[in-house]
Amino acid sequence: MTARTWFGAVALSLLLALGFAGEGVVVAPAFAQQIGTATTQPGTDVEGNAAMWRAIRQGGQGQVSIPDTQAGRLIQSQGESWRSIRNGPLSTYGAWALLGMVVLLALFFVIRGRIRIEHGWSGRTIERFNGIERFAHWLTATTFIVLALTGLNLLYGRYILLPLIGPGPFATISMWGKIAHNYVAFAFALGVLMMIVLWIGHNIPNKYDLEWIMRGGGMFTRGSHPPSRKFNAGQKVLYWSVVLGGIALTWTGIALMFPFEFGGMRDMQFMQLVHAAVAVALIAIIVAHVYIGTLGMEGAFDAMGTGMVDENWAREHHNIWVAEVRGERLPGHGHDD
Ligand code: HEM
Repeated sequence: MTARTWFGAVALSLLLALGFAGEGVVVAPAFAQQIGTATTQPGTDVEGNAAMWRAIRQGGQGQVSIPDTQAGRLIQSQGESWRSIRNGPLSTYGAWALLGMVVLLALFFVIRGRIRIEHGWSGRTIERFNGIERFAHWLTATTFIVLALTGLNLLYGRYILLPLIGPGPFATISMWGKIAHNYVAFAFALGVLMMIVLWIGHNIPNKYDLEWIMRGGGMFTRGSHPPSRKFNAGQKVLYWSVVLGGIALTWTGIALMFPFEFGGMRDMQFMQLVHAAVAVALIAIIVAHVYIGTLGMEGAFDAMGTGMVDENWAREHHNIWVAEVRGERLPGHGHDD
């Protein structure tokens, strides 16, 4: 046996011992027998070692005497693909999507300005959302913000926060952030569930939606207000993004929270990529929602603040809904749709 082969054998034993320390006993010789084409014991000769490592790279798995059979896998080559997608296109396109949305909204604000109540405040109000609806909204909203910030820290923290605050505080923030992320997720899921129950009926597409989309929601032309019931087409897009995105995030999140309960290593990697991609897309959408619910539109915040909106605001943005609530004749129509 050459010195190099000895070194290989010692290194492999150390690696196995270190990797699985505290988890149980690793049956090293059985490792070589398990990995398909490699028939040689580890470290017997250079060719045997090469064959063994090749087999490992091709997905070969060793045998361990502990319940966690995953521990027998020394190298999972797809892990490198997962890592490069996560740290490459996923992070890059995600950052572009988030920054792009902020830039678009800033441009929209500069060009269009705040969407005002055309006819001014009427002084009369109408109930838009009751207490339970507002509770569901703020439960979803506050938990989403915590999840978004702690989640973004996992993806971008090391590039943004770490250089700013240093490794110690970054490690503390990240650790508590990760714990918060796991627990707060359940409250978010509850909020989404409440939104499904409370608002699904108002979010089925109807005949007004196409006109709303064709007229760009009236957002680009002053004085143009396409007809709408309780939720317009834009709000329905937001609603379904939150519902479907929320379900996808909850499902993949639970799979990540309980490793290997719902699949193997590749499933976990897939779940992680889906989780991050859906999260970043939803955050970009929510940034636009928060803008329109606060700075972007006069009179909108009250809907989720006090639950009461000004009647002029309501008639301009949701004329069919106001007529339905007030029992008036539908504007432009003699009957309900
Ligand atoms: C924290 C900042 C937020 C503010 C200021 C805000 C504001 C608002 C307002 C004013 C409405 C009522 C719009 C109307 O009367 O037509 C609304 C509705 C809604 N919000 Fe939020 N929201 C926030 C965060 C969120 C988050 C984080 C989510 C979900 C993850 C969310 C999901 C919804 C949904 C699904 C609706 C109903 C559909 C719609 O009206 O667009 N909101 N929000």
